[in-house]
Amino acid sequence: MTGRLAGKIALVTGVGGGIGAVAAARFAAEGARVVGCDLDADGAARTERDVRAAGGDIHVMGGVDLGDAEQARAWVDAAVAVHDGIDVLYNNASTQRFAALDVLSVEDWDFTMRNELDLVYYTVRAAWPHLRSTGGGSIVNVGSIAAIRGVEFMPQNAHSTAKGGVIALTLQLVVEGGPHGIRANVISPGLVETPNTAPMLADPPERLRRLVLDRIPLGRHGRPEDVVNAAVFLASDESSWVSGAHLVVDGGGSVLG
Ligand SMILES: NC(=O)c1ccc[n+]([C@@H]2O[C@H](COP(=O)([O-])OP(=O)(O)OC[C@H]3O[C@@H](n4cnc5c(N)ncnc54)[C@H](O)[C@@H]3O)[C@@H](O)[C@H]2O)c1
Repeated sequence: MTGRLAGKIALVTGVGGGIGAVAAARFAAEGARVVGCDLDADGAARTERDVRAAGGDIHVMGGVDLGDAEQARAWVDAAVAVHDGIDVLYNNASTQRFAALDVLSVEDWDFTMRNELDLVYYTVRAAWPHLRSTGGGSIVNVGSIAAIRGVEFMPQNAHSTAKGGVIALTLQLVVEGGPHGIRANVISPGLVETPNTAPMLADPPERLRRLVLDRIPLGRHGRPEDVVNAAVFLASDESSWVSGAHLVVDGGGSVLG
């Protein structure tokens, strides 16, 4: 690794599994001092153990529900206190529920908004005064290609809407944060293989293969590293004049009509 994040204090959410666990390991390998969290206490502890075993500098708090504004604030305050600062906030965590528009319950809609959009707002809101007082930093949010196009293979109404909100919020963070040295960018992944999506990708339903996987110009679905590579760039000083970028990481699939 090249130390592209050397010395950075990076707060990363949702490090208990999937892309977030890979991000925690990579950020630490690039020299960041990582402070993570996850709702999943076991996953959080596993990531902390694995990253430390590899020589990384990481603290992870488990059982943190960022969809609760007070818990988000408490975690951010505690995370900032670990190294007395913050340079990067990578809002990776999210969870959602899928169903057709007239089948999805209002409770499931609210759950998705809470756990995909509200948690980003709560976490950014809590981090904002810390970022301002340290002269700025980099916020990396996570959208989805579901927010920029219709998705045929499964109904994603609430997920798409929430991620659209994350993208829109990012634009506002750019404007409100710029005068304080705060940058904000958003990564929109396509379909990425994680422990959650691996079974589906190992034996894709015909509809998924035909509508999505066969239509990726670069010929493969995503890997967590594809998304994390983009996050490293946006977290690092290499992107110090980049704010408001919407980086689509999807093998080129979303350009197809
Ligand atoms: N995997 C994909 O194909 C894909 C595609 C597009 C976008 N994304 C986005 O990338 C990000 C990571 O996705 P992933 O596939 O690794 O997801 P994942 O479900 O594997 O991991 C998400 C992590 O966030 C945690 N989390 C969820 N809600 C939380 C809460 N309220 N408080 C604290 N932690 C919480 C979970 O416990 C989990 O460990 C998400 O924002 C997701 O929407 C993923």
